[in-house]
Amino acid sequence: MLDLGSGAGIDCFLAAQRVGSRGRAIGVDMTPEMLARARENARRGGYRNVEFRLGEIEHLPVADRSVDVVLSNCVINLAPDKDAVYREAYRVLRPGGRLAVADILAVRPIPARERADRTRWTSCTAGALEPDKVRQLLRKAGFRNVRIELARPPGGSGRRTTAARTAVVSASIRATKPAA
Ligand SMILES: C[S@@+](CC[C@H](N)C(=O)[O-])C[C@H]1O[C@@H](n2cnc3c(N)ncnc32)[C@H](O)[C@@H]1O
Repeated sequence: MLDLGSGAGIDCFLAAQRVGSRGRAIGVDMTPEMLARARENARRGGYRNVEFRLGEIEHLPVADRSVDVVLSNCVINLAPDKDAVYREAYRVLRPGGRLAVADILAVRPIPARERADRTRWTSCTAGALEPDKVRQLLRKAGFRNVRIELARPPGGSGRRTTAARTAVVSASIRATKPAA
């Protein structure tokens, strides 16, 4: 299992219990401080089947076709080049492998002015894509069986940031890499 943007490691630790002693959970994060924290958490928790690697999710330090499942929680909205993220996730998955992402999506277009605002990027709103765009990027990368479930449907109230007036919602995004 590979976790994109593993932060302090929580999803890797949960996955480590599921993959068993012969399986492995790998977390990739670009922030050395988060990596140090995750490694310390792994040491304290006695996890032997978890590994954290420094890197960007747009350029994964992971071999081709080497993982069964790619996970990510609230990270891809922060990546400026989401095309590269999904391409990389596809590259490292084995044929038949699965992608399962929790992220923030936009339920209406975000104006260019707001997309250029770094503060709104760090609040996980400016980088949020619309579901159709995510579907398009995933299919372009090669994924199939793309399923996107919004916590609230478009037209629902969503969570509005007062400054941005942008409606964003949490979403579950799943897809598979076709078996060879
Ligand atoms: C909101 S936190 C989520 C952490 C973790 N997934 C969780 O659920 O606890 C975002 C994390 O993604 C990392 N991150 C953001 N953009 C990244 C990128 N392009 N490549 C690698 N890591 C990234 C950050 O360093 C941070 O640790």
